[in-house]
Amino acid sequence: MENKEKNLIRKIEELKKKKNAVILVHNYQRPEIYEVADYIGDSLGLSKKAAETDKDIIVFCGVKFMAETAKILNPKKIVLLPAIDAGCPMAEMITVKQLKEFKKQHPGAAVVAYVNTNANIKAESDACCTSGNAVELVNSMKENEILFIPDKNLGAYVQTKTNKKIIPWQGYCHVHQNISPEKAKLAKEQNPKAKLIMHPECPAEVLKYADEICSTEKMVKFAKENKNKQIILATEIDMINRLIKENPENKYYSIGGTCPNMKKTTLKKVYEALEKNQYEINVPENIRIKASKALNKMISVG
Ligand code: 13P
Ligand code: SF4
Repeated sequence: MENKEKNLIRKIEELKKKKNAVILVHNYQRPEIYEVADYIGDSLGLSKKAAETDKDIIVFCGVKFMAETAKILNPKKIVLLPAIDAGCPMAEMITVKQLKEFKKQHPGAAVVAYVNTNANIKAESDACCTSGNAVELVNSMKENEILFIPDKNLGAYVQTKTNKKIIPWQGYCHVHQNISPEKAKLAKEQNPKAKLIMHPECPAEVLKYADEICSTEKMVKFAKENKNKQIILATEIDMINRLIKENPENKYYSIGGTCPNMKKTTLKKVYEALEKNQYEINVPENIRIKASKALNKMISVG
């Protein structure tokens, strides 16, 4: 690590203490961002940490829907997103107007929104879920028909694990959508002893090659429980850094691409966020109250 980076890390740690802040970091962040994290994890783990923190400031190193979720769950805290333009293209794939129309077409069905949605969509949903608890969440709903938004791939995966009828919206994550069956097949042929772990945002025709399908945090658990193994990861490329950091005795390969939005957060931006209290994420109170009902169901399951 360069001296410049070490210096920034030291300055961030000092400011973090001075301002009574907590730094929450998603697994897909740049590896140097891990160095300033109080907690690294998946969407579910990070949401829970945000909801329970007693610090004054939450610095969210991830994308906007994650920081919004933190604000909705813990509204008295100042929530900062260091890279204000870090969004999630999948979250933009459904609008409130489209969701209202979708609901009208399926009266009696419940809406389960993947956490990768904007706050106004969560406010129009019955419950939220993450990739870590989507199956449990859907099974916990009293309705038998579920409008699953916006990820068609996660929706299709959940359908293989539930007796409820999933009616998916046609959104997707471009990073996981681009992992092809050919890539998965070739990786397995080249590394026949390796276990292939896939994120459920991958399409069904790719998931059929998986030895394990799980959220990013459960990938860490898998690596911990399978020592001295070869593991192929089908998810965002920087996930590999977390696994190498915590379970270096395994050999890892990745067939995933980069999420450019997750890379917008840099150490310099984290420092500036703490120094200038930027960029503060707020959610209008009427939307926050409605969205918090859906999000509280999410953090209470799984
Ligand atoms: P998880 O880390 O919750 O598995 O989600 C992955 C993701 O794509 C977040 O945007
Ligand atoms: Fe959104 Fe995909 Fe990036 Fe996650 S990896 S933030 S789902 S674009």
